[in-house]
Amino acid sequence: MHTRILVFLFLTIFSLRLSATEGMWLPQLLKALNEGEMQSLGMKMSAEDIYSVNRGSLKDAIVSFGGFCTGELISGQGLLLTNHHCGYSRIQSHSSLENNYLQDGFWAMNRSEELPNPGLFVTFIVRIEDVTEQVFRGVTEDMDPAARQSLIDKNRKSVETAAGIESYQDVFTRPFFKGNQYFLFVTETYNDVRLVGAPPSSIGKFGADTDNWEWPRHTGDFSLFRVYAGPDNQPADYSPDNQPLKPRHFLPISLDGVAAGDFTLVFGFPGRTNQYLPSHAVQMQADVLNPIKIGIRERTLDVLNAAMRADEEVRLQYASHQAGIANAWKKWIGESQGLKQTHAVTKKQAMEAEFQKRVDAKPEWKTAYGNLLPRFAELYEEMEPYAKTMNAVSEITGRNVQLFQVSGIVDRLHRLYESQGLDAVKQPLPRFLSYLEGFYEGYQPTIDQQVLAGLLKYYAEEVNPDHQSEVVMARLKKAQGDYAGFAEALFTESLLARPDDFLPQLEKDPEAALKAFSEDPVHRLAAEMRAANDEKVMSHYDRLDKEREQLQRTYMKALMEVFPERRFYPDANGTLRVTYGQVEGYQPRDAIQYLPVTHLSGVIAKYQPGDYEFDLPQKLIELYEQKDYGPYATADGKMPVCFLGSNHTSGGNSGSPAIDAYGNLIGLNFDRVWEGTMSDLYYDRSICRNIMVDARYILFVIDKFAGAGHLIEEMKLVHPKK
Ligand code: ARG
Ligand code: GLU
Repeated sequence: MHTRILVFLFLTIFSLRLSATEGMWLPQLLKALNEGEMQSLGMKMSAEDIYSVNRGSLKDAIVSFGGFCTGELISGQGLLLTNHHCGYSRIQSHSSLENNYLQDGFWAMNRSEELPNPGLFVTFIVRIEDVTEQVFRGVTEDMDPAARQSLIDKNRKSVETAAGIESYQDVFTRPFFKGNQYFLFVTETYNDVRLVGAPPSSIGKFGADTDNWEWPRHTGDFSLFRVYAGPDNQPADYSPDNQPLKPRHFLPISLDGVAAGDFTLVFGFPGRTNQYLPSHAVQMQADVLNPIKIGIRERTLDVLNAAMRADEEVRLQYASHQAGIANAWKKWIGESQGLKQTHAVTKKQAMEAEFQKRVDAKPEWKTAYGNLLPRFAELYEEMEPYAKTMNAVSEITGRNVQLFQVSGIVDRLHRLYESQGLDAVKQPLPRFLSYLEGFYEGYQPTIDQQVLAGLLKYYAEEVNPDHQSEVVMARLKKAQGDYAGFAEALFTESLLARPDDFLPQLEKDPEAALKAFSEDPVHRLAAEMRAANDEKVMSHYDRLDKEREQLQRTYMKALMEVFPERRFYPDANGTLRVTYGQVEGYQPRDAIQYLPVTHLSGVIAKYQPGDYEFDLPQKLIELYEQKDYGPYATADGKMPVCFLGSNHTSGGNSGSPAIDAYGNLIGLNFDRVWEGTMSDLYYDRSICRNIMVDARYILFVIDKFAGAGHLIEEMKLVHPKK
């Protein structure tokens, strides 16, 4: 046989098989789909131990933390563990130059020292039900899409109403498998969540952006909070009288640690993945869209990094904003590289060829699904130019230039004012004001102005001329390439750049402030850019995207029918999922093998006194020199720090517990390896790894480093391996 055909066959067979560790599974379906495989990987529990509606199970210890991370209960008194980077903006908001908790850490030595966090909430999942049948009642294939959608919406409403929840619970339904299935969630949300402890950033963010998304890793990325409840143990707004929550379940913590090959379960709330895209979409993401977003953020980061290096106070003020910009920037670089390295597109194409072959062989499939892939190809080609501009403009106006974001926020208020008058504005105004106050905290107009200058240059030079705003371009032309001068002039005149004037005015006389806002030069510029984008790009993009979405729903359904031998898991959508794998290293490149566990000696080896990423607290160095590890060391006297697993995780899984074969906490998920960040689009067991901080390092830092032994006392430490 031809080698090309051989390679093709190999890839086809290879890509149809799901690796044992791939997938983000629904906890209520483990019994049917995964229990056997999990046990073959070493799990000693049953599916019931993980998810049960009738008795306490692991799921009762897991919460969505603020809607963007995961947390878990680790004591009977509401103590909650999550990542340092998940608690980061809260720690930052309690920090000042005098009381710098980001830099020095924070430890409440008793309950009264715990710090409330208005707006922060945690959500427990009470139960999950398949409501597909009820949601699709009366829905037929030949329905007009709008009518179909409105019937589905109506059915969802009535399913939710019929759920019969308690007054302190919430209920919602969510689409799965691209809208082919629906599940209902009953949840309980607690709003009184207080900061209990955080290590200094030199431990919690050790390695910062240089090490972010990388292995070997040495970060103690954890922080502690406590969930408070009303007198009946039910959700209650903040009150000094609230009592620590008594959770239905909390995770015991294993002191026995991990070894290569151990079973690992990661339980949490992954945000968004796209595993079932056609090859064209993956190719466009890797080769076209990621590079655009990366390029824009690089310009922003040049400005932010220089400003932060030059000024201690700016470093503190911009830490969180910069970390957010840098995080996705680096992830996209890794994603594009990983997709190339694993030949994801070629493998997807091979799978698609097999799909087409099977479909063409069966007349009713051929009619229903035969044109899916060819139509995808046309659609993505048509969408590409619009997608490029859309991504660039949304990066510029929605993320990188801070004042453009403010303009977007205030614009909503302004529209309300224009359409419904002043009274309509007064009601949501306090909410807007407090949001804006948070937004402006530590805001430095001169930094933002430089970011704007760089991105206007980008807009003029890189964005498709057919999609640019004529108004903006005419003004830039007049500036004759002096983007810095142009941005400076805008900022000098902008009320938005002077929050100390703008916010009080908005509060006192919203009518006058909104009128002034509508004339604000920075807002005008952002509005012109957005308007041109809406008119020249989004009108086309949205139309194409609607068709794409319908195609994708049909394609998902088709995949499940055409490949009955495959097991399917739904894309992440912010709902509770189980992923399982093993402690294992990997081979990032030819001839390089990564081991799966790092140690405190590696932390010390990276130490650079005075460096803002690799500095260390003196106390940690002393503990290392004295080998003062208490009961938290390995059998051979080492202090473990981080470990790798083959769990299929994503953004949102930060703060998720890593759980051993018996249901004990062994670690805390906080990252993935750079080579494998493409697992959001394509999972490959050879390089996709999640990174966890070892529970023993967390205990060591709390106990030995921080002297917060009272917290250890409320936990339950166990020795499952003995
Ligand atoms: N990469 C991790 C995540 O996606 C950690 C991010 C926080 N750390 C940082 N240096 N930005 O959330
Ligand atoms: N750090 C990520 C988060 O905040 C988790 C890492 C990932 O994307 O897998 O959720």
